[in-house]
Amino acid sequence: MPLAVWPVAQRSAQYQRAGRYHPGCAAHPGKMLPALARCIVAEYSRPGQLVVDPLAGSGTTLVEAALFGRRAIGVELEARWADLARENAEHVLRPEHRQLVEVYQGDATDLATLLGDDSGRVDLVCTSPPYACDVGNVDKANWDRGGDLCPTSERNYSSDKANLGHARGAAYEAAMATIYGACFTVLRPGGILAVVTKNTRRKGRTLDLAGLTVALAEAAGFTYLQHVIALHAAIRDDDLAARPSFWQRTQTHQARTRGEPAHLVVHEDLCVFSAGPAQLTPAPQETAHAH
Ligand SMILES: C[S@@+](CC[C@H](N)C(=O)[O-])C[C@H]1O[C@@H](n2cnc3c(N)ncnc32)[C@H](O)[C@@H]1O
Repeated sequence: MPLAVWPVAQRSAQYQRAGRYHPGCAAHPGKMLPALARCIVAEYSRPGQLVVDPLAGSGTTLVEAALFGRRAIGVELEARWADLARENAEHVLRPEHRQLVEVYQGDATDLATLLGDDSGRVDLVCTSPPYACDVGNVDKANWDRGGDLCPTSERNYSSDKANLGHARGAAYEAAMATIYGACFTVLRPGGILAVVTKNTRRKGRTLDLAGLTVALAEAAGFTYLQHVIALHAAIRDDDLAARPSFWQRTQTHQARTRGEPAHLVVHEDLCVFSAGPAQLTPAPQETAHAH
């Protein structure tokens, strides 16, 4: 499998959003790095094409796609995050790019229905699914008051158990299989599916989400084209400077105390597929119309 490494975190996630994205973004616990979304859009689509994110969250894919002159449609289950995605489009984009973005509140398993006439015409699906593990924002103030470091009510994107953030094991696989099937339906022949995942560790075992994603996408009819290591550490001279969260650092420290030779995970896996034979021409150098 062709392997590439993209250094998309030379600047921290906070720095990449600061002064551009809506401050309300801090509440979403699982955002894509803007630089990663931008690289995917520039590499795997062309100006004027249609980019879709069926698990849109705060709308990072949509904002970065519109900045590059693509039409962008997002689907998000939670009203709270769908509103945030719209706010981000308002906040970051000039009117001529803002009008390229549409956000539907709905279930990604209904993607084809939600897209209506656009189904079958999508050029790129760029998305990041929940990682089949707990996600949440650390609430240090709550912890100082004797509460939970990561309150249960705020975990997994929503307290709604229908949110895929709560799905584990077979339930997660079945739901994601349906969503990748829906992505195959909405893409044009030769269209691209780009999925950002992260391998996580739980109780000393690695959950190979990238491997599972490849298996599910291939079962849905996709051809596996490319694997990209999206580096979350910064390259500084000859070193990698990791930026672990408090949570990651604690987990790795505890694993090493138990005698497990664990290391910090400093990358996400970008798995790229085509719906039928790929029809890409080499990407010209592009610049986003950023503010
Ligand atoms: C990893 S996050 C995506 C984050 C996004 N890339 C961003 O930068 O903000 C996954 C999102 O999928 C949403 N989600 C979960 N189940 C869903 C479903 N069945 N249909 C649509 N969205 C869903 C969650 O609410 C969450 O916002």
